[in-house]
Amino acid sequence: MQSQCQIIASPLNYTGGKARLFPQIRPLFPDYINTFVDLFCGGCNVGINTKAERYYYNDISEPLIGLYQTFLEVSEDELISDFDRIINSYNLSDSTKHTYEYYSCNSSEGLAAYNKSKFENIRDDFNALTQKDKYYYELFYMLIVFGFNNQIRFNKNGQFNLPVGKRDFNFKIRRKLSAFLKVLKKQKPVITNIHFNDYDMSHLNDDCFVYCDPPYLIATAAYNENGKWTEKEEYELLGLLDRLNAKKLRFALSNVLSHKGKENKLLKRWTEKNRYKVHHLNFGYTNSNYHTKDKVNLSDEVLIVNY
Ligand SMILES: C[S@@+](CC[C@H](N)C(=O)[O-])C[C@H]1O[C@@H](n2cnc3c(N)ncnc32)[C@H](O)[C@@H]1O
Repeated sequence: MQSQCQIIASPLNYTGGKARLFPQIRPLFPDYINTFVDLFCGGCNVGINTKAERYYYNDISEPLIGLYQTFLEVSEDELISDFDRIINSYNLSDSTKHTYEYYSCNSSEGLAAYNKSKFENIRDDFNALTQKDKYYYELFYMLIVFGFNNQIRFNKNGQFNLPVGKRDFNFKIRRKLSAFLKVLKKQKPVITNIHFNDYDMSHLNDDCFVYCDPPYLIATAAYNENGKWTEKEEYELLGLLDRLNAKKLRFALSNVLSHKGKENKLLKRWTEKNRYKVHHLNFGYTNSNYHTKDKVNLSDEVLIVNY
């Protein structure tokens, strides 16, 4: 079992991120992991908190992977001074220097009213960039930090299209970024940007561990709004996990067996057929609703493992 210590939360505040759930997941991981593969790394909440000798991160989102490459290649000091320069040049709020009152805002409404037009200027400039260089990914991170609920969403034409959010590059997110960068740089992960189906597993041997946290078939998130995760992808992933199992490679799959009254029957049947072990995690099971009639809103969050 991996030991308990403080969790580093992703500085992307990633939708569907496992930061809150990770304390329950970590004890279920193998004791010793030589090579850790996170096939759907998203905000990297899992890998950044997992002890291994080598790390492989993958995600289908190109800007996300480009951002991590930039995090790896550029020093922390340079990143922070570039972010501060962007914030100054666009005249965005800086709550590390001034109070909300200074910006004629209050904490509950946040800084959206002050930042709206400035954020739209960054977004327009970002969407007009043709070269995906360091500056592109730095602007992208600023869009996440100043954007709505820190989410990432692009339209069909590849244009970032979320509105401004309530917060800025405040002390809390700076602290998260700094802690994350330090670990990421130490880990020196191999980072790839491919569809999970095209991922080359041939280099993996029996002290590897493959973690999968795909979009959930029965729940929606911004990265799955265009219905990119369907039964087809679900079957393909389960097939891949079966192939790993046949090669005696360990895997763990995060998912929900039921969510808001819906059931993932396909996943349930597959788990039972292969006798994989299902760990039920109590995410969302607050005392207030567990014993009430509100069961329909509960999620059966699980970690399915083959070891
Ligand atoms: C639930 S999120 C992962 C969150 C992550 N575990 C964390 O804690 O931050 C699922 C991720 O799968 C990625 N994804 C969706 N389809 C994919 C595919 N076909 N191949 C690889 N990654 C994919 C999405 O971009 C998204 O980042």
